[in-house]
Amino acid sequence: MKRYALITGASAGIGKEFAQQLANKGWNLLLIARREEKLTKLSAKLMQKFGVDVRTFAADLSDASIPKNLFEFCQENKLEIAMLINNAGYGVPGDFEKNKWKTHHDSLQVMLNSLVELCHLFYPNMLKNKYGRIINVASLAGFAPPTAGHTLYGATKSFVIRFSHSLHLEGKDKGIHVTALCPGFTYTEFHDANGTRSMVSKLPKFMWMSSQEVVSQGIDAVEKNQPIKVNGKINRIIAAISSAMPDWIARGLFASKANKYRKR
Ligand SMILES: NC(=O)c1ccc[n+]([C@@H]2O[C@H](COP(=O)([O-])OP(=O)(O)OC[C@H]3O[C@@H](n4cnc5c(N)ncnc54)[C@H](OP(=O)(O)O)[C@@H]3O)[C@@H](O)[C@H]2O)c1
Repeated sequence: MKRYALITGASAGIGKEFAQQLANKGWNLLLIARREEKLTKLSAKLMQKFGVDVRTFAADLSDASIPKNLFEFCQENKLEIAMLINNAGYGVPGDFEKNKWKTHHDSLQVMLNSLVELCHLFYPNMLKNKYGRIINVASLAGFAPPTAGHTLYGATKSFVIRFSHSLHLEGKDKGIHVTALCPGFTYTEFHDANGTRSMVSKLPKFMWMSSQEVVSQGIDAVEKNQPIKVNGKINRIIAAISSAMPDWIARGLFASKANKYRKR
């Protein structure tokens, strides 16, 4: 069995950057996303540049059968998943009732159910090998007070942070490092995909980070066995204030500001 890092949402943004930085460190990769041509192009480039093996698995993670299919694919092809990066995700703009149930259901399946199931499927083998690395990509939104619009996003990311922290505590002395990575505003396709690019582009530059910085800090954090990594000083201050402040003050402060980057 050859060791691989499995990355969901590897066709763009933070996931693609994980693929590049991990290939540079000598990791073999298994890349997942819906856009097959992007995965194929990236895998060819990384194999050529870094001499690692890169497999692709084009799939829509809103389909509940995909985590199990992926696990079986790894078994059939003798790929040992020693690192799991649950990164695929997106924001659903609009108020709760303005979106169809299928839209909400799919987003929960991609960012919550499939993330937990992939951990559940690949964790036992990591335990057996006394080695595993799991990065669940959450968000600063998981710490920030609730906002109107994009209703499920913050709640989903809070879940990812709590879940990852529990898993971290269970695995931390057994060779399994689990980190919830919490970026703030990061330059990727994320805000094009959810239609908020024109709104967020008005935010000051100091609020933004590159996917390169976010990913290198994430890899560093999981190696150091840190349960939670909030990227960037400004974002760490926002997360700390949000966690320490009484709810009624935090809600008041955030609710008005959030209209600048949340689509209703
Ligand atoms: N950018 C930010 O400001 C920011 C801030 C905090 C947290 N995050 C989190 O970072 C993670 C990565 O986002 P990003 O910023 O890199 O966005 P991105 O550039 O839009 O990339 C999203 C990735 O997720 C994949 N994806 C989306 N829906 C999918 C589905 N149904 N099945 C399989 N793959 C799917 C996309 O691939 P395909 O379209 O090819 O399927 C793409 O590879 C997300 O979890 C996001 O919530 C981002």
